[in-house]
Amino acid sequence: MKKISIIYSSQSGNVEVLANEIYEGAKEAGADVTIKLVHEASKEDVLSADALAFGSPSKNNNNIDQEDLAPFLKQFELTLNENKPVVLFGSYGWDNGEFMEKFKDLMNDYSFKVIGDIAVNEAPSKEELKKSRELGKLLAK
Ligand SMILES: Cc1cc2nc3c(=O)[nH]c(=O)nc-3n(C[C@H](O)[C@H](O)[C@H](O)COP(=O)(O)O)c2cc1C
Repeated sequence: MKKISIIYSSQSGNVEVLANEIYEGAKEAGADVTIKLVHEASKEDVLSADALAFGSPSKNNNNIDQEDLAPFLKQFELTLNENKPVVLFGSYGWDNGEFMEKFKDLMNDYSFKVIGDIAVNEAPSKEELKKSRELGKLLAK
């Protein structure tokens, strides 16, 4: 059974909705899934997973959350990530997904393999929820 960890940051709940949908998709596909806010997550949650999903709002001038998520991810800058598959998800107010481009570059720099991503404007639409669920299924493959 595939082991998946979903780790995210969310202040007002938009990113959390996406996280929950990815969780449902991965569960439906039969994976063993853990979902945590970043301040509850440990290094082990990342190292022990076969595949990962990381989520963030756009913050700090069109970037991922620099207070909690960026420092958490920095722990993996020099670990052996061996192109472990990751899905990235998040929500922005006005940057039209610019933060997501930076997020993808960062994860590729850290030697993860980004296999899918979704960036939504504020709260996700029905279509975007559906896509998030599909991304969960993709992680479980
Ligand atoms: C303090 C703060 C800073 C923000 N900075 C940005 C930003 O730089 N660029 C942007 O597009 N949206 C920005 N936003 C909007 C959020 O990214 C957006 O509302 C998102 O949906 C929040 O996700 P959440 O509900 O999961 O916290 C900011 C919001 C807050 C509260």
